[in-house]
Amino acid sequence: MAKAATQSDAATRTSAETSALGFAASLRNKLRGISAHRHLHSPSSPQPHAPLSGRRASPFGCHRPQTLAGSFPRLQGAGRGGPCPSTAAACRPIPWRFERKGRTSAASHWAETKKTHAFLFHPTSCVVRSGDPRLEQAQLFKAPPPDIVGSRAALQQPCKGFRKGRMSSTPVAVVTGSNKGIGLAIVRALCKKFTGDVYLTARDIQRGKEAVAKLQEEGLKPQFHQLDITDLQSIQTLRDFLKEKYGGLNVLVNNAGIAFKVADTTPFAIQAEVTLRTNFFATRDICRELLPLMKPNGRVVNVSSMCGASALSQCSQDLQQKFRSETITEEELVKLMEKFVEDTKKGVHEKEGWPSTAYGVSKTGLTVLSRIQARQLNETRKGDGILLNACCPGWVRTDMAGPRAPKSPDEGAETPVYLALLPPGADGPHGQYVSEKKVQKW
Ligand SMILES: NC(=O)c1ccc[n+]([C@@H]2O[C@H](COP(=O)([O-])OP(=O)(O)OC[C@H]3O[C@@H](n4cnc5c(N)ncnc54)[C@H](OP(=O)(O)O)[C@@H]3O)[C@@H](O)[C@H]2O)c1
Repeated sequence: MAKAATQSDAATRTSAETSALGFAASLRNKLRGISAHRHLHSPSSPQPHAPLSGRRASPFGCHRPQTLAGSFPRLQGAGRGGPCPSTAAACRPIPWRFERKGRTSAASHWAETKKTHAFLFHPTSCVVRSGDPRLEQAQLFKAPPPDIVGSRAALQQPCKGFRKGRMSSTPVAVVTGSNKGIGLAIVRALCKKFTGDVYLTARDIQRGKEAVAKLQEEGLKPQFHQLDITDLQSIQTLRDFLKEKYGGLNVLVNNAGIAFKVADTTPFAIQAEVTLRTNFFATRDICRELLPLMKPNGRVVNVSSMCGASALSQCSQDLQQKFRSETITEEELVKLMEKFVEDTKKGVHEKEGWPSTAYGVSKTGLTVLSRIQARQLNETRKGDGILLNACCPGWVRTDMAGPRAPKSPDEGAETPVYLALLPPGADGPHGQYVSEKKVQKW
């Protein structure tokens, strides 16, 4: 009896030990990877991964392996030392489950489309980012850990658990305030000329859907998403949707805008506050949320106005100098826009050197903001080929400008669409104010 119990204990122990040993072996494999990583990163060691040479800084502070471009043209990231300092979602590690199941093909695909730096591999090494804290430190494995990466052929196996088509690699364009007027015409033109999905957005879903139906009657196929640019929640919902579905954004046209009619009797201070809230501050909000999503060769168009240029020329010399400065910061610009609103409330805006046009000042601010944003892109996304410009569509027959304007909405859309479709590899215009497809002096 005692002997039987002992045998049973032994059997139990054996099974427990076996599983412990199995775990230890698996851990050893992983730690081997970590020590390989440490060795490879010691100062005396040679360059660890020559095949991944030609790295350059990515906008997110990690590195992009150029030599893999052929296999994974869209793959980003995979720094070779230390965790990626970025907090950008585009650089978040992929879920561990993808790797543990050896479903690396899916992981790679997921990484590629989602622009993460999850998996890079070549015949002898791979770079892994996972949710496992031990492996987070071990980004580079001389030899792929067996339970993570199989043969190259295995890597091509489709992943059963991976929801195919969950993320689209289709290019995507978004036009704000596009249920009517110039915005609708921009969507129409992009549906014809842009190879990818084009999103008509509107703050009012009903108006948006009616506009989509109108374009569908013309045989076009715009997509729709709700967007009120003055509602941060609405902006962030669109941002998360774009990130999830497309892994970023290729074209952003900031077209939404408002203007009080000349005959409107609303007090000027209120007009100033309301107009700047939409045309300047809300457009800035959307840029803050969506610009980090811009993909390489992305295009951003801020629909400004000649009224902004004209308002600038009516400003005091001191203000003009500030608005034309090549070094003005976003914070300084925001303070100036806030000051304008405050000055109108105090009734001192003219004394302080401002013109009496809320719409004009809002567009001066938007053009200056565009110049600043272009500079910021030069600093943070150098080499990504993103082009950002402000433009004037001309005087266009819309609800805003009335029936006497000379241009049709489709004609008004020409310059914004030209800027939205600047060919890949173009190095300009960038950070300019463009009218009739020509760069204007600011
Ligand atoms: N028309 C011209 O001659 C002219 C000249 C120079 C510049 N622009 C600029 O061109 C752009 C388009 O003007 P437009 O003439 O086409 O004007 P519009 O016919 O009045 O259209 C403006 C669009 O912006 C939308 N919008 C306004 N506030 C919004 C918000 N908070 N969130 C989302 N969408 C919003 C409107 O939506 P709702 O329908 O819901 O109001 C509408 O779809 C504006 O930025 C304007 O300043 C126009």
